[in-house]
Amino acid sequence: MENHNKVLMLMVFTFFFCFMAMPTYSKHKTLTTIASNQFMQYSDTLVSGDGLFEAGFFNFRDPLRQYFGIWYKNISPRTIVWVANRNTPVQNSTAMLKLNGQGTLVIVDGSKGVIWSSNSSRIVGKSVLQLLDSGNLVVKDANSSSEDEEFLWESFDYPGDTLLAGMKLKSNLVTGPYRYLTSWRTSEDPAVGEFSYRIDTHGFPQQVIAKGTTIMYRGGSWNGYEFWQRINRVLNYSFVITDKEVTYQYQTWTNFIITRFVLDTYGTPQRFIWSDWTQNWEATATRPIDQCEEYACCGINSNCNINESPICECLEGFTPKFQSKWKSSDWSGGCLRRTKLNCLNGDGFLKYTNMKLPDTSASWYDKSLSLQECKTTCLKNCNCTAYANLDIRDGGSGCLLWFDNILDMRKHRDQGQDIYIRLASSELGHIKKLFHWKQKKENEDDDLATIFDFSTITNATNNFSIRNKLGEGGFGPVYKGIMIDGQEIAVKRLSKTSGQGIEEFKNEVKLMATLQHRNLVKLLGCSIQQDEKMLIYEFMPNRSLDFFIFDAMRSKLLDWTKRLEIINGIARGLLYLHQDSTLRIIHRDLKTSNILLDIDMIPKISDFGLARSFMGDQAEANTNRVMGTYGYMPPEYAVHGSFSIKSDVFSFGVVVLEIISGRKNRGFCDPLHHLNLLGYAWRLWIEERAKELIADISYDEAICSDIIRFIHVGLLCVQQKAENRPNMSSVVFMLKGEKLLPTPSEPGFYAGRDNNTIRTASSSKVCSINEASVSLLEAR
Ligand SMILES: *[C@@H]1O[C@H](CO)[C@@H](O)[C@H](O)[C@H]1NC(C)=O
Ligand SMILES: *[C@@H]1O[C@H](CO)[C@@H](O)[C@H](O)[C@H]1NC(C)=O
Ligand SMILES: *[C@@H]1O[C@H](CO)[C@@H](O)[C@H](O)[C@H]1NC(C)=O
Ligand SMILES: *[C@@H]1O[C@H](CO)[C@@H](O)[C@H](O)[C@H]1NC(C)=O
Ligand SMILES: *[C@@H]1O[C@H](CO)[C@@H](O)[C@H](O)[C@H]1NC(C)=O
Ligand SMILES: *[C@@H]1O[C@H](CO)[C@@H](O)[C@H](O)[C@H]1NC(C)=O
Ligand SMILES: *[C@@H]1O[C@H](CO)[C@@H](O)[C@H](O)[C@H]1NC(C)=O
Ligand SMILES: *[C@@H]1O[C@H](CO)[C@@H](O)[C@H](O)[C@H]1NC(C)=O
Ligand SMILES: *[C@@H]1O[C@H](CO)[C@@H](O)[C@H](O)[C@H]1NC(C)=O
Ligand SMILES: *[C@@H]1O[C@H](CO)[C@@H](O)[C@H](O)[C@H]1NC(C)=O
Repeated sequence: MENHNKVLMLMVFTFFFCFMAMPTYSKHKTLTTIASNQFMQYSDTLVSGDGLFEAGFFNFRDPLRQYFGIWYKNISPRTIVWVANRNTPVQNSTAMLKLNGQGTLVIVDGSKGVIWSSNSSRIVGKSVLQLLDSGNLVVKDANSSSEDEEFLWESFDYPGDTLLAGMKLKSNLVTGPYRYLTSWRTSEDPAVGEFSYRIDTHGFPQQVIAKGTTIMYRGGSWNGYEFWQRINRVLNYSFVITDKEVTYQYQTWTNFIITRFVLDTYGTPQRFIWSDWTQNWEATATRPIDQCEEYACCGINSNCNINESPICECLEGFTPKFQSKWKSSDWSGGCLRRTKLNCLNGDGFLKYTNMKLPDTSASWYDKSLSLQECKTTCLKNCNCTAYANLDIRDGGSGCLLWFDNILDMRKHRDQGQDIYIRLASSELGHIKKLFHWKQKKENEDDDLATIFDFSTITNATNNFSIRNKLGEGGFGPVYKGIMIDGQEIAVKRLSKTSGQGIEEFKNEVKLMATLQHRNLVKLLGCSIQQDEKMLIYEFMPNRSLDFFIFDAMRSKLLDWTKRLEIINGIARGLLYLHQDSTLRIIHRDLKTSNILLDIDMIPKISDFGLARSFMGDQAEANTNRVMGTYGYMPPEYAVHGSFSIKSDVFSFGVVVLEIISGRKNRGFCDPLHHLNLLGYAWRLWIEERAKELIADISYDEAICSDIIRFIHVGLLCVQQKAENRPNMSSVVFMLKGEKLLPTPSEPGFYAGRDNNTIRTASSSKVCSINEASVSLLEAR
């Protein structure tokens, strides 16, 4: 029955298609003009005088959606440059393009009548339709001579996604209608899509690409040459601003060049040039070329410099609005002025060279002012924040002023222009010193870590007041501090057991500061006072993972999506330490209390590299001092003091099972079988009751299989034998579900030394509560 229907449908389609195609082939005509009251049918084509362009009906392999458009006659595959009825295809019948007696161009759908109209209706005696060599489809008075043409209508006035040479983007400042590019919806649906490429005429005109009303990229302002490129040997760009109209267009220097500029369906502007050699369109300029082109990517009052790391920096005299976010590369908050402007007592300006000028949508301009007059004008207006030349040709002329915040400015290597940013005079004096200092520093080395004055840290922590104490880590107490500029820090005061010298320590800190990853706490620097050493970290407002997952109330704040994200984050941070960083660090004390949470609850591993710093460079060896925390230690480490990256994998496995169960490995005691968490998880696993391990926080069935997979990975990580545990890169893949998971066997566990026997092996029947990090000497 069903098959029968399909065959019938196929027949209908075949018939329909033949019906569409057959008669038109026989009547095929190539035309050069169409006069009033004449029409074109489906496979008639209108050809330009030089034969480059062709206009006619076409479809995208779907005869039920027919369009009238213009394409290159001899270029294959067919490249459409303009579509008349882009939103209203002829659906189901014979299509026809007609020039009526009033000079109006219409497309007629055999079953629906007129579905598209040029709406041009100036009464003339006789009009004709012609496709010009430029690709412009025009309706003109039949009598007018070919020179000094006044068109009744032209397709160039209604751009689609393509800007051809000679076509104009326009903004009529009086009556308002814009002519701009709009993307196609898909590569086979020319209907108006969500992206546009237009001239923004608020303030000094600039080109923007927008998604809906949101700006994505900004071409920049017209400074005399062109928006994006330097003077081009192929194209002549022109930009004309009058009181009534702003237009933008380009011309090719020679007629041999076939080029088009397209806003593609993803909002990417691209220029193509046809290559006879390769018989292909070569993309010459695709945007954006880098992250700095993303609109306002550094927030307000900042500068994007793609050659720096990080790429965003506050303008001189400005500081990040949100210090910690800024440090973790979230620049959206931008920067604020450090010292208020003092309009009456005189402010000054700081010059920036080779800049792409900031967003001009709230700017003011005057073509006649000189740069000096421009400066004076800016100083007179207390709201003016920057000025620049309008036109950089012939040594510069004209004046452009900004008010309020500076947005979307970037540094170019060798193009761009000068801009002058207003600052309080006191800042200017300060900055001169700073620049001097900065240069000196750059020559020394690019320090990532700062050596803080001890007094600064004492000040910041209120003399290490007990009220500032955040907790006690494995290596000493941690304090919260607030720097004079408001930045919050965490200060770890190392206990004095390390035998390391001061220079060694500084070097170690510098190395550790090179470890930078989204899932590692950032080390800012250190401070040293006699034999006392301190590490300074960024401050994490949401404390640590154990604070949430083991608390009945707070654990509700972490839903399953968040929990799995946190596990993924920890895995990536650990992978970075093990493999991706230059130092190849083994953490040795990974546990939930060492996983800190930032403002967005993104997990950050802390205390990494500390063990290394304390013990020097004994990679993958045995040590006579075991460090770590009971409950997270793998058997081989606790017993033999031998550690490797697989010891961290074990600890990671424990952390995973703790996050999922909401229970502490050491504190947990299964009442029935007297098992610890690993033993309990294993037992549930082999009895196929793994679901019962999941903490009592509601979840969707949809995420259940993910949670079970995470338990599975957790069990694989806590295998008795190190060689049976996966490495972190495998773990990351396994968590994603991109790798087949092996079957786990019974976990290993170090039970403690309760009665002078070290018990390891199976997930033993020991429940204990002690949880602090330990440093066992001579454990071997
Ligand atoms: C297609 O055309 C036929 C006859 O011309 C008409 O009956 C039918 O409604 C049309 N279908 C659509 C979707 O327009
Ligand atoms: C012509 O005018 C009609 C009615 O105002 C409008 O819907 C249509 O979009 C116009 N056509 C074009 C090509 O602008
Ligand atoms: C236009 O041409 C017609 C004949 O085709 C002629 O009668 C008429 O005078 C011409 N008008 C102009 C303005 O040249
Ligand atoms: C460049 O284009 C503009 C506008 O089309 C035109 O006025 C100008 O003459 C052109 N320059 C050259 C050198 O062709
Ligand atoms: C400066 O901005 C404020 C607030 O927008 C406005 O009230 C004031 O008129 C402006 N002053 C000048 C000189 O433009
Ligand atoms: C410590 O704080 C006081 C008062 O806030 C300040 O005057 C002093 O300069 C600070 N010292 C250092 C070294 O930061
Ligand atoms: C810190 O201690 C020093 C000396 O003990 C004392 O002079 C100073 O006032 C203290 N500062 C604060 C902020 O408590
Ligand atoms: C994380 O910290 C931020 C800022 O302190 C706070 O607004 C947010 O509620 C905290 N999140 C949780 C889950 O406590
Ligand atoms: C991690 O384990 C996988 C699978 O055993 C292996 O292919 C890969 O080479 C290992 N990666 C490293 C860096 O050891
Ligand atoms: C040591 O532990 C084992 C197993 O838990 C137990 O059988 C034994 O009695 C204990 N020995 C002492 C001296 O407590």
